Amino acid sequence: MRLSKRLKEICDMVPSCDTLIDIGTDHAKVPISVVTSKKANKGMACDIEKGPLERAKANVKKEGLSGMIECLLSDGLSCVDVSCDDVIVITGMGGENIRDIIDASLQKAKSAQVLVLGPQRHPEKLLSFLLEKGFEIDEERELIEREKNYILIRTHFGGLE
Ligand SMILES: C[S@@+](CC[C@H](N)C(=O)[O-])C[C@H]1O[C@@H](n2cnc3c(N)ncnc32)[C@H](O)[C@@H]1O
Repeated sequence: MRLSKRLKEICDMVPSCDTLIDIGTDHAKVPISVVTSKKANKGMACDIEKGPLERAKANVKKEGLSGMIECLLSDGLSCVDVSCDDVIVITGMGGENIRDIIDASLQKAKSAQVLVLGPQRHPEKLLSFLLEKGFEIDEERELIEREKNYILIRTHFGGLE
């Protein structure tokens, strides 16, 4: 499966994990790549819209990964269980939307090993929210693809409960 420069960077920022949970998965290229490379034992490809979810299912089936990647209709993390061995990826949407998805399921986000986030707009609003809630920023990467700037953030909850 061909990955754009941005999607390659996202996959590169994902550490070894049990389940890779991709929220707003659309094409499911991230869980497909991470599971295929054996960085994750399994994947969850989640989207709020049926159309993108069908696209995800078709790609997962084409790659022969239907037994390893579950495709789930879910608003953010609402239908997902998260453990400390799991990684959450939320990329390709606005920083405010990513912030609201995390805020709506804050305990789940806090319990993940790591979150990899790719705000397309307003990264500053997402970053200030994360710091306010006790998340630590492990890494920020900037890249340019087709003359568009992207920022990617790897973070984990570092505060005390
Ligand atoms: C532009 S695509 C990004 C696809 C992929 N993550 C990427 O980075 O290339 C954004 C996707 O997020 C989904 N989405 C938006 N809000 C969501 C939410 N609250 N929960 C789950 N999915 C959501 C949309 O339906 C859409 O398929």
